[in-house]
Amino acid sequence: RTVYVNGDYVPENEAKVSVFDRGFLFADGVYEVTSVLDGKLVDFAGHCGRLRRSLSELSMNFSVSDDELLAIHRELVSRNGLEEGLVYLQVTRGAADRDFVFPPDDTPATLVLFTQEKSLIDSALAQRGQKIFTVGDHRWSRCDIKTVQLLYPSLAKMEARAKGGDDAWLVRDGLVTEGSSNNAYIVLADGSIVTRDISNFILHGITRKAVLACARKLQMKVVERAFTVEEARHAVEAFSTSASGFVSPVISIDGHEIGDGKPGPVARKLRDVYIEEMR
Ligand code: PDD
Repeated sequence: RTVYVNGDYVPENEAKVSVFDRGFLFADGVYEVTSVLDGKLVDFAGHCGRLRRSLSELSMNFSVSDDELLAIHRELVSRNGLEEGLVYLQVTRGAADRDFVFPPDDTPATLVLFTQEKSLIDSALAQRGQKIFTVGDHRWSRCDIKTVQLLYPSLAKMEARAKGGDDAWLVRDGLVTEGSSNNAYIVLADGSIVTRDISNFILHGITRKAVLACARKLQMKVVERAFTVEEARHAVEAFSTSASGFVSPVISIDGHEIGDGKPGPVARKLRDVYIEEMR
């Protein structure tokens, strides 16, 4: 693979980042994952907008413009001949002597991008449906910033895997916040789609926004509010959304079968419509 590091396109085994990089030492960095379908970026503007917000919430200096970022994404997709998959982008506060105090403002940020081939449309997990286990949400309370501090979500997913599940849904004060790396939804008996309202406790998903717009266009009822684990276990359907999973049906929560234990019609419909809209 060809990857991008601070202005250069290089083979992945020649790419270099300092051991003093604050992303490495302090997880002092933010990231974005943008999907690619038919060689084209999906909702780049949305991801770029959220990146700017993450950078500004952390007072990170970053001088690369949106147009330049778009050009780098496109160049990397083209150099790697990527038809379907993901582009990962990471910005850190750069390299400096290890100190909790931020380095001087003129310290250049570190910008890294790479591509990852992945079958997004023909996904075995989306066809089978995910088994979810709930675990406590022990992340910090600024989950609206897309930082590279991903140890807890990784542990949560491993805990779900150890129980025979596919992914974890995180629970704060008895209420589901979101998945380990996706937003979480349930469908109630009256057909309404419930997902956590936007706050500092969840990532403001780019896919979430687009999928909710699709749902409203299809005259489906959308309710943005918190829901309990108990409510989720008794829902008629459940699903998650993310740039890498699109709309991904859920077939069980904590061992309780959801609906008839197969991907539900609302999730399947939204997945199809979302993919159609985005490609
Ligand atoms: N994860 N919530 C969390 C905690 C996430 O990490 C993500 C994305 C989402 C969904 O956001 P979006 O629809 O913008 O992808 C929600 C990415 C895909 C990842 O970490 O790989």
